[in-house]
Amino acid sequence: MESFDVVIIGSGPGGYVAAIRSAQLGLRTAIIEKDKELGGTCLNIGCIPSKALLSSSHHYAFAKTEAAKHGIRIDNVALDLPTMLTRKDKVVKALTGGVRGLMKLNKVSTFQGTGMITAPGKVAVQGAEGVAQEIEAKHIIIATGSVVVELPSMKFDGDVIVSSTEALSFPEVPKKLLVIGGGAIGLEMGSVWSRLGSEVTVVEFLPRIALGFDLELATALQKALTAQGMRFHLGTKVGEVKVENRRATATATKGDEQLTFGADKVLVSVGRRAFAEGVGADKIGVELDDRKRIKVDEHFRTNVKGVYAIGDVIAGPMLAHKAEEEGIACVEMIAGKAGHVNYNVIPGVIYTHPELAGVGITEDFAKEKGMKVRVGKFPFRANGRALAAEDVDGFVKFVADAENDRIIGAHIMSPAASDLISECVAVMEFGGSAEDLGRTVHAHPTLSEAVKEAALSVNKSAIHIGNR
Ligand code: FAD
Ligand code: NAI
Repeated sequence: MESFDVVIIGSGPGGYVAAIRSAQLGLRTAIIEKDKELGGTCLNIGCIPSKALLSSSHHYAFAKTEAAKHGIRIDNVALDLPTMLTRKDKVVKALTGGVRGLMKLNKVSTFQGTGMITAPGKVAVQGAEGVAQEIEAKHIIIATGSVVVELPSMKFDGDVIVSSTEALSFPEVPKKLLVIGGGAIGLEMGSVWSRLGSEVTVVEFLPRIALGFDLELATALQKALTAQGMRFHLGTKVGEVKVENRRATATATKGDEQLTFGADKVLVSVGRRAFAEGVGADKIGVELDDRKRIKVDEHFRTNVKGVYAIGDVIAGPMLAHKAEEEGIACVEMIAGKAGHVNYNVIPGVIYTHPELAGVGITEDFAKEKGMKVRVGKFPFRANGRALAAEDVDGFVKFVADAENDRIIGAHIMSPAASDLISECVAVMEFGGSAEDLGRTVHAHPTLSEAVKEAALSVNKSAIHIGNR
C-alpha cells in the first residue's frame, strides 16, 4: 500500500494549491480527483471559462457599440459563437493541463477516481473501472468543494432550465434568457449572453443585486447593466418554472403583483452548497454544521484526528482565492509552520463591465452597526486615464476608522476593479491608513490614481475633485 504524509481529496484551487505547497515543504503528497481533468469547479466550469466568455463577449460588444466612439468603423460585426466557445475550451484545457504539469513538477502523486476515507489514515480510490485502490496518509485534507443549489420548483433539465455549467456552452444565443438570482453567476453569465444579443431578465428575491457588496456601488452597477440592455426585477420571488415544447414559463410574485416570464432558457443561479458526499466523512464521524459544511477549527482540523478540510466545503465565502489561502495555511500548519488566513481582507469581485470589487466593511454595514467611520470617494469621470479610454463609469470608495484613519473597507466599480482592489487589500493587510495610501506615489496617468484620490478624499484632501 502506498503511503503519504498528506493526501488531498479534490483538485480545485483549494486542493491543488495545497498539494503544491505541501510538496514544497518536503511532505510526500498525493492528490485524488474524481473528474478526468484537474482544477475543480474553478478551472473547468467556473472562474476560468466564465472569464473567457466575459472577455470575448466584451470584445464583441466593444466592436458593436464602443469602437465607433474611438473613430474605428467596424462594418458587419458578426458573432461566431462556435469559435468563441472553442476558444473558451482551449483556455480551460491550457490551464487544467498546466495544473497537471505542476503536479508532476512538484512530484505530487495524482490518482484519478473518487476518494473515500475508510478509516482515519486510510483512503480508498475508486477508479472509473470499479477497481478500488487503498492508500495510507498521515494527514487527509478534504477539498471536495461545492455544487450548484437546485430548487424543487425548477429542477434542472440540462436543456431549458440550467445551471451555470450549461450556460457556459449554450450552442446558440437564447432569444430570451431568464436569470433567477442576481448574484455573481447571474450577473456575469447574464452579461455574457446579453452582450451576445440575448434579451436577459434577472429576477432577484432581495430588493438589491450583488448581496455582500457596497449597496451604493451595487445600485450603480445595476444602472450600468440596465443601460447595457439587461432587465431587473428585484424583490421578486419565482414560484415555479414550467417547460412546454422547450419554452419556459416562470410565474413570480413581486409584492401583491403576479408576474409571468417567458424564456428560451432559464439560468437558475441561486447559490452553491458545500459538497461532502461520498468522501466518507459521515463514515468516520466528521461533524458537519447546519448547512452541511464540514466543521473545522482555526487549523482546519475536523473533529477526527488527522482529517482536515478547506475551501468551499467549509464555512466562508465560496471563492477560489479563499480556498487557495486555506490550502496553503492548512499544509503549513501540518508541517509545523505558522499558517494563517486573514478573513477580514478577502476581496470579492463580480466581473461585469464595469467590474465590482470590494474588501472589508461596507458603508451600509458601518452605518447599520453605528460604527464611527469616515468615507472617501472618487469618480472615474475625474480620472485622466479613464477619460482617455472613454470608460468612466464608476468610482472608488474607502471606509476608514474615524479614530485612527485605518482603512477598514474598500469598494470599487470600474473597468479594472478586480486588479485595482489588490492595492487596497495589501494596504489593509498591513493595517495602513487612508493617509498612507493617499501619500503613496501612483504612476500617471493610471486608473489607480482614482484609488489614491479616494484615499485622500477620506481626509478631504483629494486634488482633482472638490472635497465636501
Ligand atoms: P472545487 O473547485 O469545487 O473543487 C473540488 C474538487 O473536488 C472537484 O474537482 C470535484 O470533482 C472533486 N471531488 C469532490 N468529491 C470528490 C471525491 N470524493 N473524490 C475525488 N474528488 C472529489 N470564484 C472566484 O474566486 N472567482 C471567480 O471568478 C469565480 N467564478 C465562478 C464562476 C462560476 C460559474 C462558478 C460555478 C464558480 C465560480 N467561483 C469563482 C467559485 C470557485 O469556483 C470556487 O470557490 C472554487 O472552485 C472552490 O475551490 P475548492 O477547491 O474548494 O473546490
Ligand atoms: P450567490 O449567492 O452569489 O447569489 C444568489 C442570489 O440568488 C442571491 O442574491 C439570492 O438572494 C438570490 N436568490 C436565492 N433564491 C432565489 C429565488 N428563489 N428567486 C430569486 N432569487 C433568489 O450565488 P451564485 O450567483 O449562484 O454563485 C454561487 C457562488 O459562486 C457564490 O458563492 C460566489 O461566491 C461564487 N462565484 C463567484 C464569482 C466571482 O467571484 N466572480 C463568480 C461566480 C460565482
